[in-house]
Amino acid sequence: MGKALKASLVAIVCLLAAACAGGREDGVIVIKFPHVVAPTTPKGKGAERFKQLVEQRLPGRVRVEVYPSGQLMNDDDSMEALAFGEVQMIAASLSKFDRLTKRFQVFDLPFLFPDIESVTRFQQSPEGRSLLGALADKGFLGLAFWHNGMKQFGAPRALRRPEDAAGLKFRIMESDVLLEQMRQIGGNAQKMDFGEVYQALQTGAIDAQENTWSNIYSQKFFEVQDYLMETNHGYIGYLLAVNPDFWNGLPADIRAELEQILDQVTREVNGESSAINAEALRKIIDSGASTLVELTPEELESWRAAMLPVWQLFEDQIGPDIVQAARAAGSPETIASPDSSR
Ligand code: LMR
Repeated sequence: MGKALKASLVAIVCLLAAACAGGREDGVIVIKFPHVVAPTTPKGKGAERFKQLVEQRLPGRVRVEVYPSGQLMNDDDSMEALAFGEVQMIAASLSKFDRLTKRFQVFDLPFLFPDIESVTRFQQSPEGRSLLGALADKGFLGLAFWHNGMKQFGAPRALRRPEDAAGLKFRIMESDVLLEQMRQIGGNAQKMDFGEVYQALQTGAIDAQENTWSNIYSQKFFEVQDYLMETNHGYIGYLLAVNPDFWNGLPADIRAELEQILDQVTREVNGESSAINAEALRKIIDSGASTLVELTPEELESWRAAMLPVWQLFEDQIGPDIVQAARAAGSPETIASPDSSR
């Protein structure tokens, strides 16, 4: 057997052994934290900050290994790996839990949250907090919500009104709400991995996409999209989740310290996310590579009106109590229901 092959096999066996040992190597607890975005985004910075604080406060006891930009695995695989204890922490987009719970679909309802502050209010409400534990019996213990930001559209032409989107192929995350949202505006939606979007835009396999400014900038989507529309029509945020068996099996003092660190990092991530997205937008504008389309209030209203039927289609399966609490967290003018009887 060649040296290189032997070394690879040894590495694989070691990796598997670490996974089977529930994330422990030589007595040090190892937290593998894969994610798909760039280190410069809110989640990317949060993961690095978590690692840094753990190194400072739990030296020699816990080690955090962050794998950004999908270099270890994509979101789907990371969710499976967490459930099997092969990685210990993930922060997948809330939209991607669609097949595990319908309750998180509330975060995908278009124009439900007028701004990030409304999302924070909802996530801190009793109904929002209850969602953290919604997947504990499926192998995901939610410890926190992390923001990215509000979603914007990118397309090969200026989309001023929903009619302008007719016939375009849109990439969406794994979410049936987003599928319906695109159907309502006459687009063809395609669920696709984050890591495949740039190339799909470049080759024309898809025409358009929705994401936050920080993702549009760091993934360079703006270089392959002639127009970017500032619509703020939806939200991208994350469930910071751990495997319940791993977490509950930690020594109590270590778990308590990790919880305190996570509280601090969550406050930092959620406090900085808007500034990070604003900075990304500024860099996109400065690049001159794409035209920014700012919509008039009347044009924005036409998008909202076109997408609002999505709420009614999904409200029952999400849970009316959850949707109601999310609406209450919004500002008064956006609480108006598509159904005036509510
Ligand atoms: C996406 O797939 O567009 C996002 O979920 C990526 C992310 O993690 O922000």
